[in-house]
Amino acid sequence: MADRGGRRVALVTGGSRGVGAATAVALAERGHDVAITYRNKAARAEGVVAEVERRGGRALAVGGDMTLGGDLDALFGALNRWAGWLDVVVLNASGGMERDLIAANPDYPLRINRDAQLALVTRARPLLRRGGTIVFVTSHWAHLHGRVDQLPSYEPVAASKHAGEQALRGLTGELGAEGIRLLVVTGDLIEGTITAKLLERLAPGLAASRRDAGGRVPTTAEMAEAIAAAVADPVLPSGHTVVVGGALDALLRVPR
Ligand SMILES: NC(=O)c1ccc[n+]([C@@H]2O[C@H](COP(=O)([O-])OP(=O)(O)OC[C@H]3O[C@@H](n4cnc5c(N)ncnc54)[C@H](OP(=O)(O)O)[C@@H]3O)[C@@H](O)[C@H]2O)c1
Repeated sequence: MADRGGRRVALVTGGSRGVGAATAVALAERGHDVAITYRNKAARAEGVVAEVERRGGRALAVGGDMTLGGDLDALFGALNRWAGWLDVVVLNASGGMERDLIAANPDYPLRINRDAQLALVTRARPLLRRGGTIVFVTSHWAHLHGRVDQLPSYEPVAASKHAGEQALRGLTGELGAEGIRLLVVTGDLIEGTITAKLLERLAPGLAASRRDAGGRVPTTAEMAEAIAAAVADPVLPSGHTVVVGGALDALLRVPR
């Protein structure tokens, strides 16, 4: 492996579009080399690779289904050859509204949003250097699951992401002993994303209601900046939650 002057290396899951793509670029702007993962949007992922490289970082895109252990093994094999260590892992990839995948496996939301996150962290830990950060990216509805009303169509996503967050929080002691901290970044509905468009179709008026509650809703760039800023902030303690946009207490006013 070539000596790259101890550059910081980040892995962003689901980096081919949306929040993950913007986060990869924001981390590159802060001097990281960045590996991204994606499920099937290879051309978009290569576009993000070019954006990272334009900012002076090395970049790698690895395709695969993170709910499959064999694909995760292949991802970490590629990461080992490419970098050999990690400083940052952004657990951004998420799912649970894909009709075809859920028809094939009703447990898919839990598999992607809890089990795959834990499986990825298990494989990342040996590569993460002391001082490293894991960020779990989530939504207000998932973060507050059990305490707020849910859109029926989003409920399986919210429940499974909440379970994923709790399972990861259960590891903070072990991770701390390895010098690794866990941060959670939760966002309001993010305008312009595929999920926001899908939810708006299912619950017309949702975006307007979130705008009324919080003044405005965040963009992917703002969410990405919050993630990159949290990674760069040495003072945030393990377990800390960064809240991006929106009024959490107004979540009960979800239109039906
Ligand atoms: N969108 C919102 O309004 C919103 C609000 C708050 C929080 N968030 C959180 O922000 C994060 C990103 O959301 P987003 O809307 O930007 O995501 P998105 O546009 O739905 O993108 C999902 C990403 O994950 C990848 N992915 C999906 N399933 C996968 C699998 N089984 N294996 C590997 N990769 C997989 C996708 O790859 P392909 O591109 O190849 O399909 C894509 O890169 C999520 O954790 C979400 O909960 C989103």
